Amino acid sequence: MSAEFFPFPEEPLGAVPQSCAWRRESDPLGQVTLPSGDAVRLAVRFEDVEAVLTDPRFSRDLSKPGCPRLQSGADMSDDRDTLINMDPPRHTRVRRLLSRAFTVRNIEKLRPRIREIVQELVDDMAAAAPGPVDLMAGLAEPLPMRVIAGVLGVADSDLAQFRHWSYVAMSITPDMADERVTGREEFFAYLVDLIEQHRREPGTDLLDAMIQATEDGDRLSEAELCDTARSLLLAGHETTMTSIGRGIFTLLRHPEQYAQLVADPSLVPAAVEEVLRHDFPAEVGFLRVATQDVDLPSGQVRRGEGVMPLISSAHRDTKKFADPDRFDIHRVDNAHIAFGKGAHYCIGAYLARVQLQEAYDVIVRTFPDLRLAVPAEEIVWKPDMMTHAIAELPITW
Ligand code: HEM
Repeated sequence: MSAEFFPFPEEPLGAVPQSCAWRRESDPLGQVTLPSGDAVRLAVRFEDVEAVLTDPRFSRDLSKPGCPRLQSGADMSDDRDTLINMDPPRHTRVRRLLSRAFTVRNIEKLRPRIREIVQELVDDMAAAAPGPVDLMAGLAEPLPMRVIAGVLGVADSDLAQFRHWSYVAMSITPDMADERVTGREEFFAYLVDLIEQHRREPGTDLLDAMIQATEDGDRLSEAELCDTARSLLLAGHETTMTSIGRGIFTLLRHPEQYAQLVADPSLVPAAVEEVLRHDFPAEVGFLRVATQDVDLPSGQVRRGEGVMPLISSAHRDTKKFADPDRFDIHRVDNAHIAFGKGAHYCIGAYLARVQLQEAYDVIVRTFPDLRLAVPAEEIVWKPDMMTHAIAELPITW
């Protein structure tokens, strides 16, 4: 049998592809063919995905000749100076420097400002009573972009440009390969200028902290600074935007649970965790290559083989979660891995949680009677992206 093409065809209503359920049961480390044409193994069970994410024998450095690639043409793995593409010891060093700028304390200081931005955006939507308004354009898209741009000291007037670079970078179709190259070059040129400005006039934002972060005389190089800032903008924007939209979509398809949040907003943090599990934003994982033969719980991966860990599928594994297809904000023991696990654990996890919590909290308080303005089946999804995002989410109240 030839390897199935991956990513799998998108299912209606953002459901996790059928093929994942079949594979978890019958072919847990089977092969798939990526858009680049390369064949890799797909890890779909929770225990395999967790093992791939945490086992140091799997490398994220795919720049060596012969390594599998996700995309044809420009590929995310080309950026050698990006954190997610590094292995130890370089990864450990850069991550430690970056973590000093990214502490829970620093992020918690941002919470009031994040709340303000959410309130402002939601007030604007509420002014269009009784709707319909598009929640993606009104809140899900602008919030993460404004937050991460604000954190990095990027001017509001540059946000539309960032939105474009982010969209191009996260596309996975071959026909956008040229745009991915130009987009990356433009983005870099912009960041070099931005860093230069921050060096001339140091301030107190995250980029300043990244420039100043030192340990034993060590600093982030210019290339590391640019690539890290770029990856923070990309990773920080698409995933959070997708989660905000998909979470509200799912909550509105479970109106009894939405009503429970309205009655008791202290349930919001638990609802956020269930959204992260049930509606994990990406249908594509970060590829790894085995540096030696590795025995995973479901079988062996040979040295040099590529493996893609699929978190969306791991979250639907009945061996880990009771009735995993059920959306339940009261779920106990919700030990999801939406932020990964191990060395590459999401550095923005806390920032993402704060944004999701503030967004849902303000929404349920402002719109107790919120509902979809069109049937769920008519909601349009974005095709061909690493994330599986809603394009437009018309809501009314
Ligand atoms: C709902 C929102 C988010 C989700 C679901 C998410 C998910 C993830 C996952 C699963 C990983 C690990 C990937 C792997 O090991 O294969 C990761 C890594 C990463 N994330 Fe996030 N993320 C989110 C938001 C953010 C935000 C807001 C930022 C930045 C401000 C961010 C920055 C990063 C970075 C830089 C890494 C790489 C870390 C490393 O390689 O050490 N993410 N994220």
